[in-house]
Amino acid sequence: MCGIVGYIGPKPVVPVIVEGLRRLEYRGYDSAGIAVAGNSAGLELRRAPGKLVNLEAVIAANPISGTFGIGHTRWATHGRPTEENAHPHRDCTGSLVVVHNGIVENYLALKHELTARGHIFVTETDTEIIAHLIEQELADAAKNGKQNNGRHSERSEEPPHFANDATNIPLEEAVRRTVHRLTGAFAIGVLSAHEPNKLVAARMGPPAVIGLGDGEFFLASDVPGILHHTRNIHFLADGELAVLTPHGVTLTDFDGHPLHLKIQRIQWDPIQAEKAGYKHFMLKEINEQPRAIRDTTLGRISLDTGKVFLDNLQITEQEFKQATQISIAACGTSWHAGLAGKFMIERLARLPVDVDYASEYRYRDPISDPAAIGLLITQSGETADTIAAQRELIAKGSKTLAICNVVGSAVTREAQGTITTNAGPEIGVASTKAFTAQLTALFVLALHLAQVRGTITADQSLRLVDELSKVPSKVEDVLRSVDLQCQELAKVFHTANDFLFLGRGIHYPIALEGALKLKEISYIHAEGYPAGEMKHGPNALIDETLPVVTIATKDPNDPSSVLKYEKTLSNIQEVTARSGRVIAIAIEGDEEIKHLVEHTIQIPQAPELLLPILEVVPLQLLAYHIAVRRGCDVDQPRNLAKSVTVE
Ligand code: M6R
Repeated sequence: MCGIVGYIGPKPVVPVIVEGLRRLEYRGYDSAGIAVAGNSAGLELRRAPGKLVNLEAVIAANPISGTFGIGHTRWATHGRPTEENAHPHRDCTGSLVVVHNGIVENYLALKHELTARGHIFVTETDTEIIAHLIEQELADAAKNGKQNNGRHSERSEEPPHFANDATNIPLEEAVRRTVHRLTGAFAIGVLSAHEPNKLVAARMGPPAVIGLGDGEFFLASDVPGILHHTRNIHFLADGELAVLTPHGVTLTDFDGHPLHLKIQRIQWDPIQAEKAGYKHFMLKEINEQPRAIRDTTLGRISLDTGKVFLDNLQITEQEFKQATQISIAACGTSWHAGLAGKFMIERLARLPVDVDYASEYRYRDPISDPAAIGLLITQSGETADTIAAQRELIAKGSKTLAICNVVGSAVTREAQGTITTNAGPEIGVASTKAFTAQLTALFVLALHLAQVRGTITADQSLRLVDELSKVPSKVEDVLRSVDLQCQELAKVFHTANDFLFLGRGIHYPIALEGALKLKEISYIHAEGYPAGEMKHGPNALIDETLPVVTIATKDPNDPSSVLKYEKTLSNIQEVTARSGRVIAIAIEGDEEIKHLVEHTIQIPQAPELLLPILEVVPLQLLAYHIAVRRGCDVDQPRNLAKSVTVE
């Protein structure tokens, strides 16, 4: 989604903002712009459609400078990705600008009202109305001020834009009055040429952070945009408004009541948000998975006792014991993790689990028992649908637990506890390391639930914890052994028009994830199916052009896993009998499957519930290499955004 960077401080403003926007590119965007003020030229604006290089070319051709400014990368919602629709947007006077992330739902009604009052709109966007609303608030305040001073306003009939320089309320007050009129979601940054060295930011919905440096202050829509300048971050909460000046930051609610900054020290190393020699962030992040998994178990498992520790939860062991259900809500890849988590929790803790698309949850009037525990799975912690599902769960009386990669994000603030996935910043739009870290966190949670509910023995715990601790090095083995093979497979299959991904049981969510990875970065149509469903329809798709990736792994020590594997072998034969081209994911040493299929990718053996973490790695690499061969923008696929902060 849109990126915002604002800066006040001694450094040259334009490079700070442009570099910040570059570090937010992963969020996805299709135009960019910047406004700076504070020198004799007044407020200056540069914008360009397309990527940041276009904006840089515009700035190079027509340089600007100032002492404070804001920039924006726009992911189009209202209006095409053109120069005029790019942010920042101006009021009628051109002396006040706004950048915005989110959607103003009542913008049409407001636009009609403002047009009737003489405002002139020059874009198709919802954001532009915010600039005009602020302008109007300033004008109204100025007018009232004059009337209160006993002077009848001679200018009362003048268009509002003539009144902007005669304000008698500060910019932040006009912004406060404005945000009360907006419905929908917004994170905004505002500056006015008439109030030098002041940035105003407000949030209701999409994320925004304030960075506090040494004599310099930042606004951004996400931490990586400013992390190379400061690690001291205040995550703006819904309903908060911040005023940044060279002297510091003041915080209030939307009614002007003072609030305290809650500064968090971000531990991420800025280097973690760099490509570190890899061609793409996605490839780097795929290769970071062993560490992400290891760090997610760190301090949470005891290899001596098999015990699992989940600290800082406001959900007691008793509540976990008495829980009637776990209600999972998540989106996209995180939803796939939730589907796999259902198998883990139901099998180990014998507790029923529901898994919903967060975007559907609140609209189905869910029947939720207050003794059910809501579980939100989200990499960013800022996904609008997931936040809405969380609020629905809370409204129905449930406690909510988050599995999240961003400490301090919206979902974690509203949850009664968070199991942090310590994957480090994930920049590639296609989620990889966050997914395997989520699977790891879910396994840890399933073990914890099983231990407090007494559904597994101490010996079983010990064995599973031991197996979990071996997963990172097994992922390292997979990364070493399958990358070349995935490159070769990409050579063969990158021109395919469609792909099928099949799996059974806990392997079915991994099939879904393999299909999602492929479609989002290579734009090849792909579907994930439970292998047993093929005969109920999808078999009709099979011909000699269709690659069918089938997850056919097993835990030889687990009879139910072996049974599923055997059923999957039958499904494979149904595909090959119809000339479909099967690529099987199987465990090392499985010679039988090699005779049945065209290609086999082998992964190490593991217990059934941990196999998904290993299985997904070749699927990520396959998608990656196919996308690279097709010349796709792997890290920023078209039409997608990293953090989906609108419904
Ligand atoms: O930040 P979240 O985990 O809540 O994001 C959910 C989805 O938007 C996300 O997983 C999306 O599907 C990814 N692009 C998948 O790679």
